[in-house]
Amino acid sequence: MREPTMVVDMDSTATSAAVSPPPLPPQALLERLKDYGQEDAFALWDELSPEERDFLVKDIENLDLPRIDRIVRCSFRSQALPVAAIEPVPEQNVSSVEERTMEERERWWNMGLKAISKGKLAVLLLSGGQGTRLGSSDPKGCFNIGLPSGKSLFQLQAERILCVQRLAAQATSEGTGSGGSESIHWYIMTSPFTDDTTRKFFESHKYFGLEADQVTFFQQGTIPCVSKDGRFVMETPYKVAKSPDGNGGVYSALKYSKLLEDMAMRGIKYVDCYGVDNALVRVADPTFLGYFIDKGAAAAAKVVRKAYPQEKVGVFVRRGKGGPLTVVEYSELDSSLASAINQSTGRLRFCWSNLLVDDNFLLAAIVSYYWIFTRVSYHLAEKKIPSIHGYTMGYKLEQFIFDAFPYAPSTALFEVLREEEFAPVKNANGSNYDTPDSARLLVLRLHTRWVVAAGGFLTHSVPLYATGVEVSPLCSYTGENLEAICRGRTFHAPCEIAF
Ligand code: UD1
Repeated sequence: MREPTMVVDMDSTATSAAVSPPPLPPQALLERLKDYGQEDAFALWDELSPEERDFLVKDIENLDLPRIDRIVRCSFRSQALPVAAIEPVPEQNVSSVEERTMEERERWWNMGLKAISKGKLAVLLLSGGQGTRLGSSDPKGCFNIGLPSGKSLFQLQAERILCVQRLAAQATSEGTGSGGSESIHWYIMTSPFTDDTTRKFFESHKYFGLEADQVTFFQQGTIPCVSKDGRFVMETPYKVAKSPDGNGGVYSALKYSKLLEDMAMRGIKYVDCYGVDNALVRVADPTFLGYFIDKGAAAAAKVVRKAYPQEKVGVFVRRGKGGPLTVVEYSELDSSLASAINQSTGRLRFCWSNLLVDDNFLLAAIVSYYWIFTRVSYHLAEKKIPSIHGYTMGYKLEQFIFDAFPYAPSTALFEVLREEEFAPVKNANGSNYDTPDSARLLVLRLHTRWVVAAGGFLTHSVPLYATGVEVSPLCSYTGENLEAICRGRTFHAPCEIAF
């Protein structure tokens, strides 16, 4: 509690503690807050300075109170409802690694490169998350996981885009004799928490070699955090605590930023959407795109087999018998279902983990259906929220990107190998799983295998399980074209192999 303002009468010998009555909060605004049971937001009004009062009034005026109230009520109500039964996705609904032939893979790779060279693919990065588990206040993409090159996650992704662009251009010139190939447009979703730093990071690194006009940043929205009784959590006496509205906020953000029109104007037909925190993410993967085009599905997602029951990954399921494909997030999957075993295969019943890499070509249709739906459908995530009383447990309201899958007329699942494509960076070093250290080792192991397969040799002064070589994405995307650089050469690990 602050001290009341002391007024000292210099002409008098007596010091009076007269308190000038503070102005009242704007009546109309207070009434509106009362309508939604949120009048506590003004609880400390009397103790605020004039500037703080102005700030609070603006903060509240900027909130769409009826919409937020609807969202909070619906989310609490749906949390209390029994969850519709879920069924595992049958194995035959997934394109598995084992059943893929060499010819298919080559065909998909070429189909993907062709579509990319014609400028039909854009990539969309979800980068609005706050990365609280990682313990860094910077956007996760700025994070350097300690690779020999010291590259950030953003740089690894940018260089993979550059590599695919080059491969697409080469494929076109080989096929047609002409070099004309389009670039890949990169849409980056930020939030008010990550926007400024992300833009500055890209500017200061000269867009990592990409053209500046090839990159479009756009912001997702935020929504107030609420306590268990649905009231706003106050971050300071004059500011409501808010958080990004989840990666499903991408649908309304695309709509409000008019980026669907932008995509149409650029002739983009396919959008590859992915999360920022996978050090092995194959951005703009031509094989996946080719598979997706070949399959003629409206949406597709990459999956890996879940490693262990408690792994923090969402799993693909069917809602009800023969119902639509959707994802149940790890935080919402009952632990007995998470560890249930399929007796005939001996594997986990719910085993197809969401990698957060989706391809989509009906994005516009999905945005409009999903947008109508998501005005009321949010998930409640119980988290530590910064408040005037220190960190307090409360709820962040989030939309999930994969909740759109049931709105896609068809969804194809594409299995990939986790050792080739999944190196999650979720927790700070020192945790047991998914740390920068574990992701770095996964990258080094994969790249070491590529180099050895291309005829290279390694020397190392620390055990090989703790080190390896890194291949610059500018040299190779999936281990291709490395013979000329590696055959017969010896590399001392750890090091980066670059042109
Ligand atoms: C996510 C997936 C999970 C998947 C796992 C794979 C969701 C909800 N969950 O879990 O199913 O198996 O990755 O690693 O997608 N983000 C935003 N805005 C937000 C919140 C998040 O852009 O408001 C972005 C993050 O920056 C990140 C991605 O979404 O790129 C994933 O977010 P995160 O909250 O870390 O999801 P996980 O719990 O790891």
